[in-house]
Amino acid sequence: MPVFSRLKRFYYYYIFLASLLPVACSTSSVRQATAGGEREAAVSVAVAGFINNGIVQQKGCLTCHSIGGKGGTVGPGLDQVGNRRSADWLRRWLINPNDVKNGTRMPNFQFSEQELNELVDVLSRLKKEFDPQMILAGSGNPAEKGEQLFKSYDCFACHRIGSKGRFIGPNLTWLGRRKSVEWEKNWLKNPPAYKPDTFMPDFGLTPGEIEALAAFVTSQQGQRNSEVKKWEENVIFFLDSRPREIGEMFYRRFGCDGCHGRRGESGYRNPNAAPKEQMPRLTRVARKMDKAQLTDWLMSGHRPQRLATEGSEPLSCPDWKGAVTGDEAGYIYDFLLSIAPKKKRFKFGG
Ligand code: HEC
Ligand code: HEC
Ligand code: HEC
Repeated sequence: MPVFSRLKRFYYYYIFLASLLPVACSTSSVRQATAGGEREAAVSVAVAGFINNGIVQQKGCLTCHSIGGKGGTVGPGLDQVGNRRSADWLRRWLINPNDVKNGTRMPNFQFSEQELNELVDVLSRLKKEFDPQMILAGSGNPAEKGEQLFKSYDCFACHRIGSKGRFIGPNLTWLGRRKSVEWEKNWLKNPPAYKPDTFMPDFGLTPGEIEALAAFVTSQQGQRNSEVKKWEENVIFFLDSRPREIGEMFYRRFGCDGCHGRRGESGYRNPNAAPKEQMPRLTRVARKMDKAQLTDWLMSGHRPQRLATEGSEPLSCPDWKGAVTGDEAGYIYDFLLSIAPKKKRFKFGG
């Protein structure tokens, strides 16, 4: 029935806007939770305490957040939140999320002092104990140990690899194409020190953990790309061929946002890159390149000039040959076109 399918598409498009591509995610995480032996079968006391908490139920936290594989996918999974956020941080966050992260989709619930105390308490208890030293001392190469740490710290709460995880931070499916081990080690040491406004927490990792995690994430060279593609096909169907949104999806799959920012506003610094040690903004690039030129650009690497002859190598715009297809580059162009600022009208007097 065409009317029904239109409605359905509209419905999925709406979800898509609420958070980029969570459509198939909730079902797959439920499957993981029930099938995988990783997660304990018994719901722990802390989890039950959260799920049954009156405020949590009344405010519908689980429409956006998940726990034990159940719930929404708009926000980070909360299973390990007590492990990565201090009570102070949680309190500041709940008082006004927008003060901590500008433009966040989490509402300001205007909690009373008593509600704040109660929520900080139930959230702080959400942690699964594990011993990183045991993982590091165990068998396996550094990347395999890194993968175990990645799961234990629940980095999937915010990051996606293949078809697993969330969209709060950049997609890591192609991380190894874009970032070096050195860069990663620097980042993981203390993300807020590297980029003060970042939402990524400081996990207080030891040098051994950093070594293993950096080995794991940089080993992600698109091995799980076909998994993403398969999953994205459904989304493309529901998007009803909206080139801008499809382009944004590819922009994020390859982690262009990991350097150029979510909407091309530029992201991290690029130490020792001329002229300004900054990643370039992409907001105006569609004005100076056409589709074919962008595709060409992406098919070879571009290393910026060094600012100083000594010091570290700046990061390059990666060579995407064999990764980004011509079609995907075309859609990315449509996305870049959509983020270009509208031409200003001449204003009298102003
Ligand atoms: C409309 C969706 C939505 C609702 C409802 C919501 N949140 Fe959130 N929450 C988010 C998003 C999105 C983020 C991540 C910040 C971002 O990306 O903007 C977040 C982040 C958080 C964080 C930080 C998580 C981390 O990993 O650091 C906590 C804690 C949190 N929310 C608790 C709650 C609680 C408790 C409730 C219910 C009282 C709630 N949220 C309701 C969307 C929501
Ligand atoms: C609460 C959400 C959250 C959690 C949990 C989280 N991250 Fe992040 N991460 C982010 C965000 C957001 C960014 C993007 C940084 C920015 O631009 O501010 C990021 C950036 C990164 C990057 C760089 C990405 C790129 O595109 O170059 C890596 C690598 C990374 N995180 C690894 C990890 C690892 C490993 C863990 C677990 C130990 C982890 N993250 C846990 C939110 C999170
Ligand atoms: C590791 C960081 C990094 C990633 C990831 C990255 N880029 Fe770049 N990009 C750069 C750097 C650095 C430059 C500047 C290169 C130079 O100076 O020659 C650049 C330049 C560009 C330019 C030219 C900008 C201009 O004003 O001329 C375009 C277009 C571009 N990138 C698109 C992309 C797209 C699309 C993606 C994702 C498929 C992407 N980049 C991923 C670092 C990155």
